[in-house]
Amino acid sequence: MKRTLLIIVGLFIAIQFIRPTQQNAKVIDELQLKAEPKVMKVLKTSCYDCHSDNTVWPWYSQIAPFSWTITEHVVDGRAAVNFSKWETYSQEKKQKELRSIYKKVYASMPLSSYTWIHKDAILTKEQIKMIRDWTGVRR
Ligand code: HEC
Repeated sequence: MKRTLLIIVGLFIAIQFIRPTQQNAKVIDELQLKAEPKVMKVLKTSCYDCHSDNTVWPWYSQIAPFSWTITEHVVDGRAAVNFSKWETYSQEKKQKELRSIYKKVYASMPLSSYTWIHKDAILTKEQIKMIRDWTGVRR
C-alpha cells in the first residue's frame, strides 16, 4: 500500500519535468481582429485563451498532465484561427473562418473542457445570436 502510494507520488513528480512550451507571441495591434466592443468582449471572454496571443495561463496550466492538454488546445486553437493575426489572413480565409464561427458558436465552441472551469465563457442565447449576426453569414 505504502509502496504503491510512493510510486504514484514519484510518477507525479517525474512527469512535472515534461514541460510543454507555453508562449504568447507579441501582439501587433494592426494585425488584431477589430470589431465593435460588445463582440470583442464576448470573443475575449470565451475564445481568446485559445484563439489569440493573449492567452492567460492559469496555475493549473503549469501542472502535468493538465499542462499537456491545455497547451495542445491552445496550439491547435491558434493554428485553426488566431484573432491576434486576423489581418494576416486572406479574404477567403476570413470568410471561411466567419462561416465556421457561425456554426461553431452554436455547436462545439468554446470547448466543454474549458467552460467546465470557465463558467463565464459559456455563451448565452443572446451572445450566440450577437456573434452570428456579426459574422454576416446569411442562410
Ligand atoms: C479551450 C480552448 C478553446 C476555446 C476556449 C475556444 N476554442 Fe475554438 N478551437 C479550439 C481548438 C483546439 C480547435 C481546433 C480543433 C477543432 O476544430 O475542434 C478550435 C477550432 C475552432 C474553429 C475552427 C477553425 C478552423 O478553421 O478549423 C473555430 C471557428 C473556432 N474554434 C471558434 C471559436 C470561438 C468563436 C470560440 C469562442 C466562442 C472558441 N473557438 C473557443 C479550442 C478552443
